[in-house]
Amino acid sequence: MKTLKLDISKAGVEITPRMEERTREALSLLYSKQGAGNDFLGWVTLPSSIAPQELSRIEAEAKKLRECADVIICIGIGGSYLGAKAVAEAMGDSFAALRPRKEPVVVFAGQNLSEEYTYELLDAVKDHSIAAIVISKSGTTTEPAVAFRIVKAEIERRYGKAGAAERIVAITDRARGALKTLADNEGYATFVIPDDVGGRFSVLTPVGLLPLAAAGVDIEALVRGAEEMERATGEQVAFAENPAAVYATVRNALYEAGKKIEILGSYEPKLQYINEWWKQLYGESEGKDGKGLFPASVTLTADLHSMGQYIQEGERTMFETIVSVTAPKHEVRIESDAENLDGLNYLAGKRLSEVNRMAELGVQLAHVDGGVPNLRIEIPEISAHALGALLYFFEKACGISGYLLGVNPFNQPGVEAYKKNMFALLEKPGYEAETKAIRERLK
Ligand code: PA5
Repeated sequence: MKTLKLDISKAGVEITPRMEERTREALSLLYSKQGAGNDFLGWVTLPSSIAPQELSRIEAEAKKLRECADVIICIGIGGSYLGAKAVAEAMGDSFAALRPRKEPVVVFAGQNLSEEYTYELLDAVKDHSIAAIVISKSGTTTEPAVAFRIVKAEIERRYGKAGAAERIVAITDRARGALKTLADNEGYATFVIPDDVGGRFSVLTPVGLLPLAAAGVDIEALVRGAEEMERATGEQVAFAENPAAVYATVRNALYEAGKKIEILGSYEPKLQYINEWWKQLYGESEGKDGKGLFPASVTLTADLHSMGQYIQEGERTMFETIVSVTAPKHEVRIESDAENLDGLNYLAGKRLSEVNRMAELGVQLAHVDGGVPNLRIEIPEISAHALGALLYFFEKACGISGYLLGVNPFNQPGVEAYKKNMFALLEKPGYEAETKAIRERLK
């Protein structure tokens, strides 16, 4: 089977030659670099251009961290966090906490400012050896900088400055930012986030690859999957054969037809953080200039018992994109029961995945009948290779979609607004006038 199949037969969209032409133009802009945000297009050819030496260096550094620590604390937020978290969750064991621990674990910090979370983290690692990966492209983002200050102090208390330098790896800009200066001064190993790759498109740089290698994920397979998808969505590929082009076309057609919300869903709970990564990718790329589909998500079948009612009968402003997995890795069958008190003997002998599949098909038809168009993305399995392909597919479709929408998909001017207020409230030096003004507003 192909690495990824897209089914738009239940989307209710007929692709016209004009729509196809517009998508072709948008796709071309990603290669000709003539569109908005053209200095952030390094991700387009990233999978095919990652040097084997870079991958080897990442794997060697991950090995070093795994050898010296039970727990590797990965610090970052937004695009410097969600890609690694998404793949690590998908590839991990849902019940790892219940099993005897044989391998080092990667945990995440710096994606919030919660005192409870940070206290519990420090408390939980008290009796474990620790190391840290700190990730920030700008090197100045408050959440990871605060978390890193706390974790760095803990590492230095335990292992001294020299020991800390052996246990901390920084991933940041080539030359700029406080993290770069700090890493150089402290002598940390560093990896560079290429200038032309923005945060939410950086999962296939050391930003995603180092934490994932540290978590034991096969990053070469991840990159190979992405590379396969890079080829499958290239400029020369026929439109109908290019799943990213077709997906972008259909979702934009639905937007233009009045749909305002795209819900990404999956019947595999392990993919829940893929939803989160996708929401950031599409929300930050498209939500600007008063435009853009609102990216929402559901985990199924659980959310059929919460959001299912709304999706079926609420405002008709949404469509659904389902990521479906062909084959589970493990087998669980439903047994026959002599008494059949629960009335489930009609399922006896079936695999749970068959029941899950019928739920998926039943929901698809019900939602389509209820006025919710459905797109279906099928991946063969949850593996590093398939996830690499899925990530790149979504990135490519996002770049095309942003251009179809007429926005710059590679900036995020809107995320600055809250920072100004937060710095003013915290009396950051340089924000004196803003502090005074915000105090007035709060009186
Ligand atoms: O996609 C983006 O650019 C953002 O989500 C960033 O990844 C996020 O704000 C973190 O930024 P930084 O890596 O500079 O700390």
